[in-house]
Amino acid sequence: MLNKILITGGAGFIGSHVVRRFVKTYPDCQIVNLDKLTYAGNLLNLKDIQDAPNYKFIKGDITDAEFINELFLVENPDAVIHLAAESHVDRSISNPMEFVMTNVIGTVNLLNAVRKSWEGNYDKHRFYHVSTDEVYGALGETGMFTEETSYDPHSPYSASKASSDHFVRAYHDTYGLDIVISNCSNNYGSHHFPEKLIPLAINNIKTNKPVPVYGKGENVRDWLWVEDHARAIDTIFHNAKSGDTYNIGGHNEWKNIDLIHLLCDIMDRKLNRSSGESAKLISYVTDRAGHDLRYAIDSTKLQTELGWVPSLQFEEGLEKTVDWYLENELWLDSVTSGNYQEYYKNQYSNK
Ligand code: NAD
Ligand code: DAU
Repeated sequence: MLNKILITGGAGFIGSHVVRRFVKTYPDCQIVNLDKLTYAGNLLNLKDIQDAPNYKFIKGDITDAEFINELFLVENPDAVIHLAAESHVDRSISNPMEFVMTNVIGTVNLLNAVRKSWEGNYDKHRFYHVSTDEVYGALGETGMFTEETSYDPHSPYSASKASSDHFVRAYHDTYGLDIVISNCSNNYGSHHFPEKLIPLAINNIKTNKPVPVYGKGENVRDWLWVEDHARAIDTIFHNAKSGDTYNIGGHNEWKNIDLIHLLCDIMDRKLNRSSGESAKLISYVTDRAGHDLRYAIDSTKLQTELGWVPSLQFEEGLEKTVDWYLENELWLDSVTSGNYQEYYKNQYSNK
């Protein structure tokens, strides 16, 4: 029986879905959300559960070791679900050091705090590290990533996540911490920051701006509904063996350009535009440096051992996602003002 779970990065895209799920599913367990509230963190994402009696928010930075050690003394959580990270590949290309600091140093700070705070009782506690399929590198036309695939990261983002995974496993092997890691494919759904392909395209189509497609749009991603990821994390957190790893994915591969065409068709319908109007906004731009060609996750282990299966067909999920963005203009306006405009100009004006 766990009394208190610390969730890091709970104000971000996936983190907010995980926090909501745990707050609602486990009313007898205190959920503490630790988040720095970077550009990607937004308390509006958790407005519906902010007053729940089993929920508490703490603003703080995982790169600050002293703060983290103090937090563990005061809060004394039974388990950690670690999502806090810098998460955008393009930003990691412009500013790798921030990714080293948060994703590597921040993770090691948490591991050190856990090691000290839970000493002598490691079997009664769990450190769950949320990672990505990008640590496995890129696939060609065929094949899938399994839990046995060797790590081969290509971007500063994926290199920093791979490094953090190695540290988490090293603390299990060296000190005996109870750890679990999951590596998930691309998520989509509500509250996704519009620097990532799907929400960026929705926002640009809505406002009649060009939709930037890198290279020829031939790259393939394996898309998963974010609430299915949150449910997988819940299942793995409660059932995995110590030291285990699970891949999470939707068996749902899409070439970027095909996905954008599907999105344009949905937007035409939702905005009462004539068929093909939104697709005229598609604009091919300079490719991302080191752009991984294809990701595809084999989640057989999770499906057969723990019985998890994705719940939504992509077309249905994408339609729900578009509806959410069209119904939540205030949210979209609040995250696309100020610094976002500066980021957008720097990222896309020379493409
Ligand atoms: P996100 O960028 O939306 O959210 C990250 C959150 O971490 C934000 O709330 C931010 O404020 C917080 N944060 C950043 N630096 C921090 C720091 N130093 N201290 C405390 N909090 C900090 O990211 P996301 O897309 O929700 O991803 C969450 C996790 O899931 C990440 O670890 C990411 O690598 C992993 N992941 C993401 C995807 C995806 O498709 N988005 C897929 C697989 C795995
Ligand atoms: O695979 C899991 C990963 O998925 C997560 O670990 C990352 O945190 C998450 O950001 C995501 O990484 P990607 O780089 O795959 O996501 P992004 O939405 O940035 O890009 C998806 C694809 O679309 C990729 O092939 C690049 C392309 N793209 C992206 C943007 C932002 C474009 O063509 N144009 C764009 O403007």
